[in-house]
Formats: sequence, structure tokens, C-alpha cells
Amino acid sequence: MKINDFKLECYFGRYEFTAPYLLTQSDCESMTTKELLSMEPGAEEEYLNQWLGYTETWGDPELRRLIATLYNDMTADDVLVFHGAQEAIFGYMNVLLNEGDHIIAMYPNYQSAFEVANSIPNCEFSKWYIKDDGAKWTVDFDELEALIRPNTKVIAVCSPNNPTGYTFTNAEIKQLCEICRKHDIYLFSDEVYKGLELDGNKREWMADNYYKCASLGVMSKAYGLAGLRVGWLVSKDHETLENVVKFKHYMSICDSAPSEFLSKVALKHSDELLERSIKIIRNNLKLADEFFDRYSNIFEKKPITCGPVAYHKLLIDMPVKDFCQLAVDKKGVLLLPSDIYGMDDQYFRMGYGRMGVSESLAKFEEFLIEEKFV
Ligand SMILES: Cc1ncc(COP(=O)(O)O)c(C=O)c1O
Repeated sequence: MKINDFKLECYFGRYEFTAPYLLTQSDCESMTTKELLSMEPGAEEEYLNQWLGYTETWGDPELRRLIATLYNDMTADDVLVFHGAQEAIFGYMNVLLNEGDHIIAMYPNYQSAFEVANSIPNCEFSKWYIKDDGAKWTVDFDELEALIRPNTKVIAVCSPNNPTGYTFTNAEIKQLCEICRKHDIYLFSDEVYKGLELDGNKREWMADNYYKCASLGVMSKAYGLAGLRVGWLVSKDHETLENVVKFKHYMSICDSAPSEFLSKVALKHSDELLERSIKIIRNNLKLADEFFDRYSNIFEKKPITCGPVAYHKLLIDMPVKDFCQLAVDKKGVLLLPSDIYGMDDQYFRMGYGRMGVSESLAKFEEFLIEEKFV
């Protein structure tokens, strides 16, 4: 198999652990193992006694049960655990897509949602664009229906979206599921930022609404526990899960026992962890809003309703790629330009889930002043 480079990972590989001012991360602030264990009485002692043998390929049964409780209508049998969300996407797409199939993916999107399709001969890929209406990001369901072909096998969505932050309403979730049901298409729903509803309107999980949908979740983003590398697919469609698990036999085989233990602790305190992340995002958003309001002559700010990322527009006459490169070279401020998403326009991604955004915004401001952008 030949697959194109994962642009975002290549970019982060260069800067994520060297640039001091991170303004584009899509995960929420993490914590130490000790802090996490302290949330649950007796967990630290239990963790030290954790058996380090192989684990079950489908995931620890209690972890699967806890994941199922996040959904309206799922049981442990509907859950397949992975070594991170990335492994789940890779496995699912490889299993579902074959030569001659067609996939429609929301665009821009996390690259693996469509890149596996590009690696399969004669597997066609269409983009369902999230569009900038000047004030915010929007989607058009008529455009989606127009993209459907007789060989469309999968529609891949990501909501809250990476990078735009666009998030389906519950009515749109139902509408999307209805379209897939009508055309008998599999729906892959990346919901790794779910739980971060800043507007207070709790979104339903997609898989609760459609049999042929697989919902993707993870500990990395909303829970701020990326180092655990625990993700999952949830679906009533057990035939697909059974096929994907056979693919997992060629990937990680099973998940890390300490990570599964720690994920169970985290999910017992799910609401607490989500509230912690939402509080950080809200504080950072307030600072970022003030920042963008001060510099509305050079940036077009896009609002977000859910999740930690926003995709703003640069209004100055300089390619956004060069602008972002200059920011990291001169001041160590890391942003993510739209070419990473395969787009030749002027957007860049900001991330609001981490601590330190205040200091990073101050550096960004220094950069704008010193380089005479303002
Ligand atoms: C939308 C989306 N899906 C999936 C992933 C992969 O998540 P993980 O790193 O936990 O495997 C990411 C990571 O950035 C993401 O942003």
C-alpha cells in the first residue's frame, strides 16, 4: 500500500515539541497520571497492581461498558476500542473501501478520513465543502445529495469539524442520517471533539441515529488525555465492526493495559473532565475574541459553537503559509495554515483547549507589531 504523507503530522513533527507558543493544538489541556488517579478513591493502588499482559482485542469489557454509557442506545457489544482514533479511521476505511467505490468526505477534514480512499486504485473521492459565508462556516445538504453516485459507499463527516469548528445541530444530524438511510450509504462520523458544546446544546451521537453509522470517539481531545492513545468506534452494525476487528489484528492487536485502566478512571469522571476542558476553552475564547476584535483589519474571525478549534481568515496580502512560517520562525508562535488541509486560500487554524493561550496571544501580538502587520 502506498499512501500520501499526512501533512498535519509532518508539520507538527517539525514544530509541536519545539515551538514554545502553541496556538493551534486541537486537544485539550492534559494532566499527570497522578492527577487523574486522584479523581477516583483507591485508583492509584489499583493502577500499581495493573496486570501488564495482553488485553482483549475488542477492548477491556468494563471500558467498553463505560464508553457505551456515553450514548443513548448502545451496549458494550456495540463498542470496539482502538489504539487512538487514528487507528480506528485507518482500519474502518481500509475495510469498507474497495476498488470502484466512491467516498464523499466533508472538506476540509482530518486527512485520514479521505486519504485511505486515495491510496486504493479506482476508489474515487468527492469533497463536500464546508463553506465560508463571510460570517461563519456553513454546509449545504442539497450539495451533499448531488454528490451521491450509485457507487457511493461511505460518507465521512467530522463534527465538531477539524479545522473549521463547524458543528451539526441535532436537526442536521437527523437530516444527514436520513440521506444516508435513503441511499443506503455507510456513515463514518468523526466525533472526537464531542462533549465540548460551548453553546450548551448537547449534540446527539450520530450512531444513535442510524444503524449503518460508526461514531468515532477518543480520550485525546475533549478529555485531554491524548497520551493514553485510546479511541473507539461505536455502531449497531456489528458486521462492520467484526470486519474491522480483523484488520486490527494486523495493527495494534490490542490496546495498552495501563491506558485502558486510566481511560476507565477518566470515563467514570467524564462530566468533570469535560467541564474542565470547556472552562479552559471559554476563557481562551474570550481572550482570542478580544485579540481578533483589536485586529479586525487583518483577520476575519469565525465563531465556534463547539469544540476547541476555529478556522479564521487572514486578510493581508501575503500567503497564509508564509505568514504562519514567519510567526513560528520569528517568535515561536505555532499556527496551522490552510495548505496543510490541501486548500489554497487564506485560512489558519487556532486551538483554544490548552493552557498558556494568553502568553501565546501576547507573543502573536508582539509578532504582528514587530513585523509591521499592524
Ligand atoms: C478530527 C480528528 N480525528 C481523529 C484524530 C486522531 O486522534 P488521535 O490522535 O487520538 O488518534 C484527530 C487528531 O488530531 C482529529 O483531529
